[in-house]
Amino acid sequence: MKEELAAIKQEILDGIKEKATSRAEAFELRKQYLDSKMGKISGLMKQMKTIAPEEKAEFGKSVNELKNWALEQFTALDEKMKKLELEKRYAKEKIDVTMPAKNIETGNLHPITQMRNQLIDVFAGMGFEIYEGSEVENDYYNFTALNTPKDHPARDMQDTFYLSPEFLLRTQTSSGQIHVMESKKPPIKILSPGKVFRSDDDATHSPMFSQMEGLVVDEKITLCDLKGMLDVFVKKIYGEDTTTRLRPSYFPFTEPSVEVDVSCFECGGKGCKLCKGTGWIEILGAGIVNKKVLENCGIDSEKYSGLAFGIGIERTAMLKYGINNIKMLFESDLRVLKQINDN
Ligand code: DAH
Repeated sequence: MKEELAAIKQEILDGIKEKATSRAEAFELRKQYLDSKMGKISGLMKQMKTIAPEEKAEFGKSVNELKNWALEQFTALDEKMKKLELEKRYAKEKIDVTMPAKNIETGNLHPITQMRNQLIDVFAGMGFEIYEGSEVENDYYNFTALNTPKDHPARDMQDTFYLSPEFLLRTQTSSGQIHVMESKKPPIKILSPGKVFRSDDDATHSPMFSQMEGLVVDEKITLCDLKGMLDVFVKKIYGEDTTTRLRPSYFPFTEPSVEVDVSCFECGGKGCKLCKGTGWIEILGAGIVNKKVLENCGIDSEKYSGLAFGIGIERTAMLKYGINNIKMLFESDLRVLKQINDN
């Protein structure tokens, strides 16, 4: 009998050494010996009836000792396996906190979009509504209705991309003025942002650029209203100390026409590189809507008058953000774009 118990003991020791590589395996092994029904040690007790009466006590004691020893072995084995599995998990989940972090790029709005939004904000605050026209336009809306008939020399001011004798890529958002005045009765107060196209290409011109047209038509609209609105605009965009100055100019669709200068926000008017020493920077064209244009749209020019202005969005952004080449706005160079975040 003693040999049998010793053999079981050895078997358990060998099993622990060779068969248990996980908690689950250790548990299976434990069951082979200690399961109350199938376990080998529990089975030994059943042999009690075959044991001679004088040996029963000794046998019972030995089996109990073996059982307690086995319990200790398997409890220790379970602890060991638990620790081992935890170590394995830790090794698998280990992270190197000194590794350089992945850079998550967060984008921001394009400077042209930022400037467009700022302009919309300023003029929406003065009650302007948005009208967005189409980029393909008919000759009538882009030129003729704006008092620029076919043989008008002012057509040469804008190098036009014609798609056909009748259709073209709009050269100015002023075409929106006609659409709005044809479909709406005064009072009118609209802002029309959009892309325009001209065969023009140098450091400050691009074949595609963006404008923001403004049009107000009502009774008794004068140049003073225009100046007042533009003053609000330049103060909001270029700073509270900025003012405007109007110079006579010519556009077929306005009479009188003006070129609007803004006091140099870089030097405060003293004269610097940006304003070429003059203290003023030209920013946009504007004027009082030509009576002929109102009449082309069926608006009574005796009763109503209008003001109009056309802002170049790229130009406004370039001045504000100190960009000297318009191409920088179209090259999508993140090093440039990241520096401009006003929103
Ligand atoms: N359409 C003109 C251009 O693209 C800009 C302009 C000038 C618009 C005077 C106006 C205006 O509404 O009144 O050069």
